[in-house]
Amino acid sequence: MIITIDGPTASGKSTVGRLLAKELKYYYLYTGLLYRALAHVLMKDHGYTLATIADPEMQLVDQILDTKKFVYFYDPSDRERIAYDGVDITDQLKGDTIGHGASLVSTNQQVRNRLDKLQRAIANDHDVVIDGRDAGSVVFPHAEHKFFLTASEDERAYRWYKQQLDRGVQTTISDAREFIHSRDTRDSSREIAPLTIPIGAQTIDATHLNVVQVLEHLKKSLF
Ligand code: C5P
Repeated sequence: MIITIDGPTASGKSTVGRLLAKELKYYYLYTGLLYRALAHVLMKDHGYTLATIADPEMQLVDQILDTKKFVYFYDPSDRERIAYDGVDITDQLKGDTIGHGASLVSTNQQVRNRLDKLQRAIANDHDVVIDGRDAGSVVFPHAEHKFFLTASEDERAYRWYKQQLDRGVQTTISDAREFIHSRDTRDSSREIAPLTIPIGAQTIDATHLNVVQVLEHLKKSLF
C-alpha cells in the first residue's frame, strides 16, 4: 500500500509521516532528503553554487544518482539516511543552504524525472509512507491514500523558528516568515511539478492541531 503526504515546508509532514510509518510498520520515504543529497554532492564535490545548481550537467547527475553509490535507507529504530560513495552524509543535509540548493535543483524537469524514477524504485516492494511535494500528484498518482498536510504561513514560520533555535541557530520571527514565504513561493509557482493538492487527497489543516492529533486524524481516515 502507498500512502502519500504532500504539503509545504514546516507543515509537520515528516514528523507525522515518520510516526505513521513506524506505527503501521511501513517503510518511510522522505523525498526531500533525495533532493538535498543531490544538491549537497553537486555543491560540495562539483563546484555548483546556488547560482548554477538549477541547471546541472545531466551526465553528472546520472553518475551521482547511480544506485550503487547513492543509497537511501530507512531504519525504523533510527531514522532515514543517505549514503554516498560509502559515506553516510545525512548529517550534512539539514542546513538551509542545502535546503535552498535542493529547492533550486528541484525546479529542473530532467532532475525530477530521475528522482521520480528513484522514488518509484525505492517504494517498489514496500508498503510505504511517502513524504513529498508531488508524491500524490505526479510520482504516485495511483496511491491508495493521499493526504495534503498544511498549516497557516504564520504557524509554519513559528515552527521553523523554534526548530532553528532547538538546533542552536539564531534567527528571528521575521526571518522565519520571510524564509517560509520565499520557499512556498518557489515550490508553488514553479512550472514543473508545483506544490498542489493532489486529486483525491484529503487536506488536513494542522494550524491548531498537534502531532498526536494529526496522527489520529490520518489513522482514522485510513481504517
Ligand atoms: O522536504 P524538504 O524541505 O527537505 O525539501 C527541500 C526542498 O526540496 C523543498 O523546498 C522542495 O523545493 C524540494 N523538494 C521537491 N520535491 C520533493 C521533495 C523536496 O521539489 N518531493
